[in-house]
Amino acid sequence: MVACASSLSLTVLVAAMMASAATAQLSATFYDTSCPNALSTIRSAVTAAVNNESRMGASLLRLHFHDCFVDGCDASVLLADNGTLVGEQGAIPNNGSLRGFSVVDNIKRQVEAVCPRTVSCADILAVAARDSVVALGGPSWTVLLGRRDSTTASKTNAERDLPPPSFDLVNLTASFANKNLSTADLVALSGAHTIGQAQCQNFRDRIYNETPIDASFATSRQANCPRTAPTGDTNLAPLDTTTPNAFDNAYYSNLVSQKGLLHSDQVLFNGSSTDSMVSNFASNASAFSSAFATAMVNMGNIAPKTGTAGEIRLNCSRVN
Ligand code: HEM
Ligand SMILES: *[C@@H]1O[C@H](CO)[C@@H](O)[C@H](O)[C@H]1NC(C)=O
Ligand SMILES: *[C@@H]1O[C@H](CO)[C@@H](O)[C@H](O)[C@H]1NC(C)=O
Ligand SMILES: *[C@@H]1O[C@H](CO)[C@@H](O)[C@H](O)[C@H]1NC(C)=O
Ligand SMILES: *[C@@H]1O[C@H](CO)[C@@H](O)[C@H](O)[C@H]1NC(C)=O
Ligand SMILES: *[C@@H]1O[C@H](CO)[C@@H](O)[C@H](O)[C@H]1NC(C)=O
Ligand SMILES: *[C@@H]1O[C@H](CO)[C@@H](O)[C@H](O)[C@H]1NC(C)=O
Ligand SMILES: *[C@@H]1O[C@H](CO)[C@@H](O)[C@H](O)[C@H]1NC(C)=O
Ligand SMILES: *[C@@H]1O[C@H](CO)[C@@H](O)[C@H](O)[C@H]1NC(C)=O
Repeated sequence: MVACASSLSLTVLVAAMMASAATAQLSATFYDTSCPNALSTIRSAVTAAVNNESRMGASLLRLHFHDCFVDGCDASVLLADNGTLVGEQGAIPNNGSLRGFSVVDNIKRQVEAVCPRTVSCADILAVAARDSVVALGGPSWTVLLGRRDSTTASKTNAERDLPPPSFDLVNLTASFANKNLSTADLVALSGAHTIGQAQCQNFRDRIYNETPIDASFATSRQANCPRTAPTGDTNLAPLDTTTPNAFDNAYYSNLVSQKGLLHSDQVLFNGSSTDSMVSNFASNASAFSSAFATAMVNMGNIAPKTGTAGEIRLNCSRVN
């Protein structure tokens, strides 16, 4: 009986520990005493970068996503290749596509100047993503903090875990579920495609071969995206054709009018259970804003390294 009771309480304890490991131990006030100027320093730098080039807001938001989906939000995406380390930047979804690394290095330099060895690169990415959305007119939210930086990166895991634009809804749902994110998170987070740009190679099949698609939208995109790729082709188009640099809900109205740029966008509104969420976000901007904020916090909670795990990198591009 005693053995039974203690094994039961051990089971409860282990279950509780697992639950707390799965829920991030992050906190909104993490830097309040150790670096009270951390958040304002990041915000000023992000605002300056976005005011200089609005696309940078999109690029910084995407960096946080591509960080979190690969072994958690641990700034692994920022580690540059060197003689031995094969990082994530050369992985298929990232190579020639991710941007903003020098902006992050610049933010880190400013943060190190006010608080040496204190603020992680992973937290900088999470805060910069929020500040980018705000700078482009989108919602704000409280960013949970206390992530630490990885000492490794994985090109293999980046290619395994980052969803490609060819995915159907079932594949996208599975990819997000694998990170403990729901279908509601998927639909809300995809609204990030209300800003930023995509290369022709990522939507060529859709604008030439796919239905449903608005005919005039397809024609206008074809003008700058030839059917056959010339070498070195990197022609860009806005992900949100209506208001490309505003963080608003026009992405969803575009889906309703069959003007999603990527296949993985349009599958969210193509006769399935997610149609009603898309219609709701298209007609109710505040419903989108609050769902996006909630989903960003959920994404930021993916497998953070906390406590004494990992390190606080001094230079975001390399291990200490
Ligand atoms: C649902 C699965 C997703 C797929 C398949 C996907 C795919 C893509 C692709 C193919 C591009 C264009 C890259 C290029 O051509 O260089 C892109 C751009 C972008 N993605 Fe996603 N994405 C997804 C989810 C997300 C999420 C969750 C976020 C952030 C919360 C996000 C933020 C962005 C942003 C902001 C851009 C534009 C970046 C820039 O202009 O530099 N995406 N995405
Ligand atoms: C401003 O943006 C341009 C691209 O539009 C870039 O070449 C330049 O380096 C940026 N300047 C600063 C100070 O970030
Ligand atoms: C590359 O980074 C790895 C991981 O931090 C480190 O062990 C190695 O010494 C670095 N190599 C070079 C050539 O800097
Ligand atoms: C990334 O792209 C560049 C230029 O397109 C190419 O030279 C390089 O080999 C690619 N890197 C990897 C790791 O595939
Ligand atoms: C999507 O998932 C289905 C069912 O698991 C699978 O048959 C299909 O190959 C996947 N598609 C892609 C593009 O990975
Ligand atoms: C998802 O949750 C499960 C159960 O709580 C946990 O074991 C797993 O590590 C979590 N996965 C991620 C990527 O956070
Ligand atoms: C939409 O659904 C139809 C019917 O299932 C399918 O043929 C088409 O490929 C789908 N298109 C997109 C963009 O999901
Ligand atoms: C829009 O969504 C918000 C937040 O979910 C909700 O409170 C509000 O009632 C909705 N407005 C309309 C007109 O449906
Ligand atoms: C950070 O590390 C990268 C990659 O090793 C290097 O190119 C860069 O100069 C370093 N930046 C600073 C400020 O030391």
